[in-house]
Amino acid sequence: MDDAEVLKKRGYIMGINLGEGSYAKVKSAYSDRLKCNVAVKIIDKKKAPRDFLERFLPREIEMLARVKHHAIIKTYEIFETSDGKVFIVTELGVQGDLLEFIKRRGALPEDVARKMFRQLASAIKYCHELDIVHRDLKCENLLLDKEYNIKLTDFGFSRRLARDEDGRVILSKTFCGSAAYAAPEVLQGIPYQPKVYDIWSLGVVLFIMVCGSMPYDDSNIKKMLKLQKEHRVHFPRSKVLSVECKDLIYRMLQPDVTRRLCIDEVLMHVWMQDPKSVSDTTLSKPGESSHHQNQIKALYGKESGPEPSDNEQVIQEERHADLDKLSEQVQRTSL
Ligand SMILES: Nc1ncnc2c1ncn2[C@@H]1O[C@H](COP(=O)(O)OP(=O)(O)O)[C@@H](O)[C@H]1O
Ligand SMILES: [Mg+2]
Repeated sequence: MDDAEVLKKRGYIMGINLGEGSYAKVKSAYSDRLKCNVAVKIIDKKKAPRDFLERFLPREIEMLARVKHHAIIKTYEIFETSDGKVFIVTELGVQGDLLEFIKRRGALPEDVARKMFRQLASAIKYCHELDIVHRDLKCENLLLDKEYNIKLTDFGFSRRLARDEDGRVILSKTFCGSAAYAAPEVLQGIPYQPKVYDIWSLGVVLFIMVCGSMPYDDSNIKKMLKLQKEHRVHFPRSKVLSVECKDLIYRMLQPDVTRRLCIDEVLMHVWMQDPKSVSDTTLSKPGESSHHQNQIKALYGKESGPEPSDNEQVIQEERHADLDKLSEQVQRTSL
């Protein structure tokens, strides 16, 4: 039986391709029961390696069943066919993933980034409080619903923290995620605190949100690692960012694991609070505020924003090139 037939028997009408991962394909479908569109991740166990089947897939299924949060994709049902295909039916990220969104629209205004990043950080706080770590935070794993709310997905590398008899976290040794989002301790193969690793990836995500480009060039890991260990974060000159925003990114991209922010500190950071303080710095020039509001309207209200000027066009094209490179590299380096 092909996938469409399996789904039909379960009450779903299969739709278009939404994405393809390492061992999975993701399709849209219409659910007769729920009377709405859903996403179905289909994993063919026959094509997946043993490690994935024995360690990662069971964890993904366990975590999806356990988590329940407004910024985490909702799971409706999981079933397996007798010929070894696993179907994971979830809420649909109607607006696709964040990487695609930023590639299409360029960097996000800080107000929009703040709203999305707060949602993401609150999902991570929820997970970390349950002792669940994600270990694969990246823009492709952040979906957007129809109002552009963040929905975290892909728990394929997640796990529950292991603790010793005294309750101390046992360090992880498995390299998880993608090099572009990986913390220096992970890239170096040093056993790592997985919650602390998640924060680094959050730093990379926020950088991409507000800059529209990646913080490090991962085509040369040695060079990238050197920059990371020297705590150097290069913000593109073409972007005007508030001091607070840069400070938060800088503190998440902290190579010293004992000094990197924890999720509560991220949520308490001044940039995460209501926009007033940020408005003072980024919207201070008269007349700029309405332009900023237009940008937000463009993101939320209309299909496409105002036409960029020639100069902006060039910057956007550069950004897109950068992000195309990022998605290529992420695919190449996904482990
Ligand atoms: N619920 C969903 N709604 C919309 N798109 C989705 C959904 N789930 C996955 N996708 C798309 O499919 C891609 C791969 O799905 P993911 O669960 O991340 O698989 P993998 O574990 O193989 O990376 C995502 O990056 C996203 O673009
Ligand atoms: Mg993924």
